[in-house]
Formats: sequence, C-alpha cells, structure tokens
Amino acid sequence: MNFFIYKCLLIILLLCASGVGIIFAQTPQRVTCTNRRNRCFLKTMICPRECPSRNSKVPKVKACYVNCDSPICKAECKSRIPNCNGLGSACYDPRLIGGDGIVFYFHGKSNEHFSLVSDSNLQINARFIGLRPAGRTRDYTWIQALGVLFGTHNFSVEAKKATTWDNNIDHLKFSYDGKEIILQESWNSQENYVKLERISSKNSVAISIREAVEIAVNVVPITTEDDRIHKYQIPSDDCFAHLEVQFRFVGLSTKVEGVLGHTYQPDFESPAKLGVAMPVVGGEDKYRTTSLLSTDCKYCMFFPVREFDQIQSSVAADYGRLNCSSKLSHGNGIICKK
Ligand SMILES: *[C@@H]1O[C@H](CO)[C@@H](O)[C@H](O)[C@H]1NC(C)=O
Ligand SMILES: *[C@@H]1O[C@H](CO)[C@@H](O)[C@H](O)[C@H]1NC(C)=O
Repeated sequence: MNFFIYKCLLIILLLCASGVGIIFAQTPQRVTCTNRRNRCFLKTMICPRECPSRNSKVPKVKACYVNCDSPICKAECKSRIPNCNGLGSACYDPRLIGGDGIVFYFHGKSNEHFSLVSDSNLQINARFIGLRPAGRTRDYTWIQALGVLFGTHNFSVEAKKATTWDNNIDHLKFSYDGKEIILQESWNSQENYVKLERISSKNSVAISIREAVEIAVNVVPITTEDDRIHKYQIPSDDCFAHLEVQFRFVGLSTKVEGVLGHTYQPDFESPAKLGVAMPVVGGEDKYRTTSLLSTDCKYCMFFPVREFDQIQSSVAADYGRLNCSSKLSHGNGIICKK
C-alpha cells in the first residue's frame, strides 16, 4: 500500500517536472516540405527538442534540419556551420564530398570558373583562386566565390582578398540581382527567395535559397601551418582567403549535373567503388563556365523559368518531369511536353 502511494507521488513529481520543462523549453517548430519533387511532400515534421528551431542563433547550438528527401521524413539536428566531413561539402584545396558520401578532389584551375551544380532550376558556380609554384604541373586551388542562379534571380557570395588574416575583420561580400548586399545580422530578399543570416559576427553565414538549397559558408585563410604542411608556397602579400561550404539541396532532379551535382544522380557510379582511394575528378572541360554567373558549360542544364515569380514552387517543380525547350521561340513561351 505504502509502496503504491510512493509510486503515485513519484509519477506526479515527474509529470510536474516535465511540465515545467515544456513550459521553459522552446516549443519545437513544425515544418512542412512544400516541394512536390521531394519524397516528404506535404509531410509535417516536428523539430527534435534538442534543436527546436531552424534558426539557431548560437553557432554551437544545432539547428533543426528538414531533409525533405529523408527516407523516414523526420526532422534532424544539424550544425549550421559547414562540416567539411559532411555530405555536400567543398573545403580545402577543393576536397568535395558527394551525394553518396564519397570524398573526391577537383583541382580546376586558378582564376577560372566551374559549375558545381547545374540543374533545371538551380545553377551554382565556383570561382577558383590559387597558385602554381615553380616546378609543379598543376595549380593549387581554392574556392573564392560562389555564384548562384535560380529562376530569374542571381546571387553571389565571395571571400574578400586579404594580405594577412585578421579574425576581427569580416571578409564576406554578397550580391543579389547585381546589387551588393550590406549584411548586418540577417537579410531577406524582397520576395524572401534568399535569406542570409550571420552565424557568428564575422566570416560565417547561413544562406537559404527557397526550395532550392541551404548553404553554410565560412571564410578562412591559408594559415602558415597549412602552407608549411602542403608546401603551397603562398606569397607574403596574399593569404588566399577562401570559402568552406556545405550544401543541403532540396529537390534536385535526377539529371543534375556539375562537379558536385552529378554525384547526386541516382545512378551515379562512384570512382571509389571502382577501387580508387582518393579519386581526383576531372571534367574541367565539361564544367567550365566563362564567369561566376554564366551557365555556358558543356554539361550545364540550367533552364531558367522566366515566370518564376508567378509560377509557384508547386508548378515550377513539375518542370523536372517535363521535356521543355526554350530553343523553339514561339513568342515568349516555353514549350513543355509530358
Ligand atoms: C543578375 O540579376 C540582375 C537583375 O535581374 C540582372 O540585371 C543581371 O544581368 C543578372 N546577372 C546575370 C549574370 O545573370
Ligand atoms: C524532348 O523533345 C525533343 C523534341 O520534341 C526530342 O527530340 C527529345 O528526344 C525529347 N527528349 C526527351 C528526354 O524526351
């Protein structure tokens, strides 16, 4: 009998404690995937308690991450700063991790541009900077800038050149539709297509391009330590400030191209599976573009939907399943066939 009362008391205590916990903890956000192309279309997910919000302001606190292609359609916790060992990352002298988790290198060439992702609704190019010490057969390269095109809009993020590195100086530079953005804490484009949010006061930002991609970006220098280990021989007047990035894509098509993008194709055959330990991916000629915001690479397949602003995502998403051609210029329209 006594035992029963104790048990009841204990249960009441526990209920009270958890009630208080619920009151003080932030209510987990509810999120829905709105892109028809995703597996979890219209599924409502609740953020885990450990990361109740999608917009955690504290760099060390994880944010709620909604993977709309997750097999189980559940929200997860993810760090908002780029994880250079995570899927979709591009860091160092570009070392990339593909959609299949395989690590590979793409050297490119300094002062040139290559398409990292080219899909019908999204194009992401990278500008490579670097140097070639005497006697080397190729350039050492890093990603200095990203240029993004989606719908009829364009966006870029760059690392500003610096002689020497100072942590107290911000090296990020942005532009949207050709105009520079001055980023205080956060910024939204007029129609909310692009959202920027500083993750720390300097050199770290979370970029969100609605229904297309989330990009975590840091600016980092080549340190004297990196230089010593890798024998880059960087000059004293340039620390090669560059980007570390990690992409989380929403609704890529199965035909997605680009240095990183093609590894997200469902039938992508990884060179690592063929027994290559640290594969270097070539394809410079397939993916080279003439500038940061051009879509003229051989394998580029970006197809800007002119009426992006009117056609809402649900319709725009359907373009992936249609056979569209802009080359047939019957008036302003585009021609699509199922
Ligand atoms: C970027 O957008 C602006 C505004 O629409 C446009 O004037 C500019 O030509 C675009 N740049 C590229 C390279 O598409
Ligand atoms: C798309 O349409 C064009 C012209 O009608 C045709 O030649 C091409 O084979 C089609 N492509 C696909 C993938 O259906």
